[in-house]
Amino acid sequence: MTTDTALQPIIDVRGAIKRYGEGDAAIYALAGVDLTIMPGEYVAIMGPSGSGKSTLMNILGALDVMTKGKYFLDGIEIDSMDENALSIVRGRKIGFIFQSFNLIARTTAVANVELPLAYQGIKKDERRKRALKALEVVGLADRVDHEPTELSGGQQQRVAVARALATRPALLLADEPTGALDSKSTSDLLDLFDQINAAGRTVVVITHEDDVAARAKRVVRMRDGKIISDTLNKGRVA
Ligand SMILES: Nc1ncnc2c1ncn2[C@@H]1O[C@H](COP(=O)(O)OP(=O)(O)OP(=O)(O)O)[C@@H](O)[C@H]1O
Ligand SMILES: [Mg+2]
Repeated sequence: MTTDTALQPIIDVRGAIKRYGEGDAAIYALAGVDLTIMPGEYVAIMGPSGSGKSTLMNILGALDVMTKGKYFLDGIEIDSMDENALSIVRGRKIGFIFQSFNLIARTTAVANVELPLAYQGIKKDERRKRALKALEVVGLADRVDHEPTELSGGQQQRVAVARALATRPALLLADEPTGALDSKSTSDLLDLFDQINAAGRTVVVITHEDDVAARAKRVVRMRDGKIISDTLNKGRVA
């Protein structure tokens, strides 16, 4: 592996297999996936329901482990790490966004955004400062003390984006982030992803929607646990 960070993939997965169950009942959610993503890329992952997209994202995000295969995240081999080591890597390198927002109920926007910073042991004042800044970036400076139920779906998802960005991760992973959003909120969120990517962060977004995938610079399609195509988005890549 090269030591030149400019040439080192942020994601390098080789021969990823994820099997559920044994023998005749075995399901291969991933049936041999190779995927390399360089820093600063903006990749959409598409494919029919059950094709293995979320399974792949959970592995890329170190939320789950493979049955077999190798995974280098930013040059570090993580497929053999234990849960404790994985959670540290996860906290440092990755921001997550989910379809259902996954915000903590009865907790203000700013406190939600502060949470991953608290896990990293960042002191209270600095935590608050960074969380407020992240909420400002997503256009919610005037909603910091609102709880999830006091926010629209689009606003809740923007809190989730602020939370994912607060730790300044190199990699942003989003699984169907627009699934629960109306078209205006979807468009606002995609503008935000453009900004985040323009700032140099790697963005990987799983989606069923063509208009969401059209905003990425590269589209990877899956079927039956395999990658069946991997193409650059003309018009999005100079
Ligand atoms: N915990 C589990 N136990 C058994 N099978 C599972 C488990 N999780 C996922 N699977 C199976 O693995 C396959 C891939 O699932 P996955 O959630 O990755 O699909 P997906 O592409 O994200 O689908 P969707 O678009 O519906 O979200 C499916 O056949 C699913 O039933
Ligand atoms: Mg899924």
